[in-house]
Amino acid sequence: MEKNIKVNDGTVKTAALRIKNLNKTLGRRQILFDINFEAYRGEVFGFLGPNGAGKTTTIKLITGLLTIDEGSIEIGGYNLKKHYEKALGSIGGIVENPEMYKHMTGMDNLKQYARMRDGVTQERIEEVVKIVGLSNRINEKIKRYSLGMRQRLGVAQALLHRPSLLLLDEPTNGLDPAGIKELRDILKKLAHEENICVLVSSHLMSEMELMCDRVGIINNGKMVGVYTVEEMMRESAGDTSEYIYNVDNAERAAALFSEMEYAVTDDTHIDVVFSGDDVQDRLAQLNCKLIESGVKLYTVSPKEKKKLEDVFIEITQTGGVQIG
Ligand SMILES: Nc1ncnc2c1ncn2[C@@H]1O[C@H](COP(=O)(O)OP(=O)(O)OP(=O)(O)O)[C@@H](O)[C@H]1O
Ligand SMILES: [Mg+2]
Repeated sequence: MEKNIKVNDGTVKTAALRIKNLNKTLGRRQILFDINFEAYRGEVFGFLGPNGAGKTTTIKLITGLLTIDEGSIEIGGYNLKKHYEKALGSIGGIVENPEMYKHMTGMDNLKQYARMRDGVTQERIEEVVKIVGLSNRINEKIKRYSLGMRQRLGVAQALLHRPSLLLLDEPTNGLDPAGIKELRDILKKLAHEENICVLVSSHLMSEMELMCDRVGIINNGKMVGVYTVEEMMRESAGDTSEYIYNVDNAERAAALFSEMEYAVTDDTHIDVVFSGDDVQDRLAQLNCKLIESGVKLYTVSPKEKKKLEDVFIEITQTGGVQIG
């Protein structure tokens, strides 16, 4: 049985994947250290980490391509070690390039693959083709497919047996922006409308931000943390806003602002920090004050906020930030 779990916001989620204290050594090197996380049905879970972090290794352990040294993996409620076949039966996965026969059509490839799985009907094949948006090209030979189309056919193939967990290792590698968007929309739809748990790995924060509901960050084989995308956005935005004032008399303006108890972080170009949510009103007030005191105000511009990418680098380098 899949376990229902009450999460922070009070809603109940169904865990499609549960990883506990996972350790893995390859050769003489320990690659994974005590990995712990859960991914739920109905969400796109991003597995984010720089090159060499251990994403592929973790995904290979989940798909049974590598054996577990220590710890446990539960898929669809089945322990991978104890109920290997049932656990793997709940997964649809593309770890490396999906195996396909290039001289055959997309449809024939799916039929070929369906023969190796129990209970995949022609109806289901047509259904998955539709889901990935290949209906009008499915009878063409794969050698004429673009990389994006091949990737989507791979997703179709992985979905045939109605898995509860879809695993994709860096699925957008090599795709152009249009291809990335198409795939992203498909994966979101699968999670949100078909209640599948979609786990995608990536080393790009910007991509995760657009595609995922939650993101688990891995670095040097260790889990740094699991955050909702909203939490990460909030973290990157911070709860303060900063504005840069360009005036004729910086010293005078700085004195004025300090008097009004605003934090002035730089008195050469006047950098003012606001917190709270009535920023617009207070900006208007400040601007009035400046003009009243005879300071010439040329421009006020919001200071560029920290990019998510920077937050990611910060998180992976410092070993975690406090969020929430
Ligand atoms: N068979 C192996 N023997 C020894 N070390 C290995 C083996 N396979 C992978 N590694 C090492 O394990 C670490 C994690 O590799 P892994 O492929 O899981 O990283 P990744 O997060 O998927 O990186 P990338 O973003 O580059 O795909 C790397 O340092 C890699 O060199
Ligand atoms: Mg990898």
